[in-house]
Amino acid sequence: MAATTIEGINFNLTEEHLAVQQAAREFAQTELLPTAIERDTHSKFPAEQVKKMGELGFLGMMVSPEYGGGGMDTISYVLAMEEISKVDASASVIMSVNNSLVCWGLEKYGSEEQKQKYLTKLATGEVIGSFCLSEPEAGSDATSQKTTAIDKGDHYLLNGTKNWITNGNSSSISLVIAQTNVELKHKGINCLIVEKGWDGFAVGKKEDKMGIRSSDTHSLMFTDVKVPKENRIGEDGFGFKFAMTTLNGGRIGIAAQALGIAAGAYELSVKYSKERKAFGMRIAEHQAIQFKLAEMATKIEAARLLVYKAARLKDEDKDYIQAAAMAKLFASEVAMWATTEAVQIHGGYGYVKEYHVERLMRDAKITQIYEGTSEIQKLVIAREILK
Ligand code: CAA
Repeated sequence: MAATTIEGINFNLTEEHLAVQQAAREFAQTELLPTAIERDTHSKFPAEQVKKMGELGFLGMMVSPEYGGGGMDTISYVLAMEEISKVDASASVIMSVNNSLVCWGLEKYGSEEQKQKYLTKLATGEVIGSFCLSEPEAGSDATSQKTTAIDKGDHYLLNGTKNWITNGNSSSISLVIAQTNVELKHKGINCLIVEKGWDGFAVGKKEDKMGIRSSDTHSLMFTDVKVPKENRIGEDGFGFKFAMTTLNGGRIGIAAQALGIAAGAYELSVKYSKERKAFGMRIAEHQAIQFKLAEMATKIEAARLLVYKAARLKDEDKDYIQAAAMAKLFASEVAMWATTEAVQIHGGYGYVKEYHVERLMRDAKITQIYEGTSEIQKLVIAREILK
């Protein structure tokens, strides 16, 4: 049943939650902030920082300790995502894809053999993963898969191109969605675990992006790649359902990212408005700025409630499809709006790189696009309301 009310939601954070939040905040401030602008300028992948994220347990937060993960709940995950995204959304998308699109799906639907072989390495950050659904002609319209995985008995023969793949070059393990039986439409789609370096697997050019520039986005090409049958996740034809179910959780991660970007821009704006003087007083004393800050704080708090609600529903094993879509839709719109306001508050300083808010504004835009555009979130919400 669609979740339409705030059902017994308790947002009280435990000592453990607060410790995770604090650890993420410290990591973001000490390891990410000093190099964020430089990495953005040069589109430099945060290799050292990602390694540290693995050591600190941020790459497999919700994975069971049995497979090398932190065994934490989704609330812990969104708290960490928010703190890291306040500073560096490039780092947080790497984290989000590995946690919610790769590790979560593998743990939930993978075979024991797949978990031992792949999940343990992904959860500890020994390697990172990518999730390959989008194609040149299949973005929002994800059922129109042109990549094919032809059944050859003991293996699939994989052919096609995937686009805009986060962790495209840096990932060692990719979950690739491909069509096996065209007649069955989305019920003939599979998800295959593919290792980088297998014959026929090529990494395409790196995308020159508006934002999240230090994350690593590439197209991936597959030419007659032989994928063993044991690398298929779930039953034959389960791939599309796998992708959709995994994205439901992924959207909570991106909603938390959007929340973090908005909150980061807001915190910088509060600080700046207490320092900057105009017309003989601190700009925080001008009502024009106060109204902006008040509206930012209110919308960010509303986004936070939606994000926590979606995370809590997931932790309580309740239906969270609608809640996740609402959280992502709202938080990403707030992120775009709040970062634009932050640039406005910073004036000329906001338009140059030194004060971080212009980067946050560029980073915010993608949260309205990836893991389902705002329009797709509305479609998902409407379908849930009307079903
Ligand atoms: N959860 C679970 N199942 C879902 C679902 C959801 N949210 N949405 C659809 N499905 C299931 C349907 O139930 C249906 O299965 P059955 O036939 O077994 O009932 C199947 O999927 C097909 O659904 P529809 O018939 O509704 O198909 P559609 O073509 O009309 O709509 C869509 C599908 C919802 C638009 C889907 O294509 C979609 O979500 N598109 C957006 C894709 C997306 O989010 N891409 C993000 C790329 S990944 C990324 O960005 C990662 C990154 O790098 C950061």
